[in-house]
Amino acid sequence: MMKSKTIYVCSECDYQSAKWLGRCPQCNAWNSFTEETFTEPAKTSGARPRLAVHGEREHAVRFGDFAMPEYIRHSTGIGELDRVLGGGLVEGSVVLLAGEPGIGKSTLLMQLCGQIGDSCKVLYVSGEESKGQLKMRAERLGVAAEYLYVLTETSIGDILAEYDKIKPDLMIVDSIQTVVAEEISSAGGSVTQVRECASLLINRAKADGASVVIVGHVNKEGGIAGPKVLEHMVDAVLTFEGDRRTPHRIVRATKNRFGSTNEIGVFEMEEHGLEEVANPSAMLLEGRPTGVSGSCAVCIMEGSRPLIAEIQALVTPTVFPAPRRTANGIDYNRMCLLLAVLEKRLGLKFSACDVYLNVIGGIRIDEPAADAAACFAMISSLRDIPVPDDMIAFGELGLSGEFRSVVSVEQRVNEAFRLGFSQVVLPKRCAAKAGEADVELVKMNGIYDALKIFSEKEQKKE
Ligand code: TYD
Ligand code: MG
Repeated sequence: MMKSKTIYVCSECDYQSAKWLGRCPQCNAWNSFTEETFTEPAKTSGARPRLAVHGEREHAVRFGDFAMPEYIRHSTGIGELDRVLGGGLVEGSVVLLAGEPGIGKSTLLMQLCGQIGDSCKVLYVSGEESKGQLKMRAERLGVAAEYLYVLTETSIGDILAEYDKIKPDLMIVDSIQTVVAEEISSAGGSVTQVRECASLLINRAKADGASVVIVGHVNKEGGIAGPKVLEHMVDAVLTFEGDRRTPHRIVRATKNRFGSTNEIGVFEMEEHGLEEVANPSAMLLEGRPTGVSGSCAVCIMEGSRPLIAEIQALVTPTVFPAPRRTANGIDYNRMCLLLAVLEKRLGLKFSACDVYLNVIGGIRIDEPAADAAACFAMISSLRDIPVPDDMIAFGELGLSGEFRSVVSVEQRVNEAFRLGFSQVVLPKRCAAKAGEADVELVKMNGIYDALKIFSEKEQKKE
């Protein structure tokens, strides 16, 4: 006997409650509870359920006795996407691509179809657009793949039936929030629907060895909409980042079972689709003003790739009772911490000033190695002395004002050299790992040495 009961599920975090709540006690989201019907499977009396597949019991094996499985990877034909995926799409893997509306998910996937649709069978399932709209986009992108099939359907049963008929090598589902299983009473996009449809898709793909790319929406906070379990179920999660108003787009792997995470792919949205950016550092430094105070270049690591970004600071006397602090592209609390260290250790009066900190190009920096450059930009703006244009700085700042070592020193220095920087400011402790590049190394023990750089500049200015 199947028993049905009504439960209320938070659409943000999957929290379940027997009664409706205005605010979710788990994720604090307001008005996020939706009514769903939950069917409890009848308990079979006595015997414990066995987790067996096809009626056969799994046996434990000695780990040394079985060989490494071979994962077959197919290049997507888009270099930046391959980099994020760890070399290409793995057969039988499921990738979730998430991002804000209008950021370019469907565009990227249509371009992917164009690249591989001439040699592999691709099924593009769209629940968001009509066939005409898809055709128009393909036309605009110059996609004319021979083995590309499109299906505008939202019922999971029909999608799987079509999948069985076509047997594609790659299936794209745009988006999981539009797919519905009719047996479930709740609306498309609800937690139960997303979980159920995703698990049906994943099971089918795994059984057949086909690759699946699922598009996912993001919620108001920027997280992936739907149950957290969706992220656990898939093999890789790619997030599409960027400001819709600027052309730069970053695809970042936040989870990857077949490659390293933290890798990023950089694209630029052009009139005819997404163009790969092979040299993102040069793009980020484009149009950088010279001889202006409040700016410092930094080399951050995005996975295995060094990336040069520019941090800008504006420090102005405050007119407010409590000074304003604004951080864009860098953690707000990190900025406050750096300001506190500068105030305490160097006696700089930031407490009387508003501070605005900004990272150029829509990049988000969450690496402590950027501390040195952020401090330099803020001191430079406070004192109105420019950091030399050919100077780049990296190093983590400790609370005692000491500079701590960072990783990948040689790669950072080489990237700085490649882009024409001739002075690299770095922590003294890791200067030995800087490699052979022809740059001047400015070694620093602590933030006190930074002041030395600025006071030398001040003397020169006078
Ligand atoms: P789209 O892929 O539809 O976004 P998503 O699927 O993530 O919601 O991309 C939408 C935006 O991209 C749209 O606002 C227009 C822009 N765009 C271009 O600038 N050039 C192009 O060639 C295409 C196809 C779209
Ligand atoms: Mg879309």
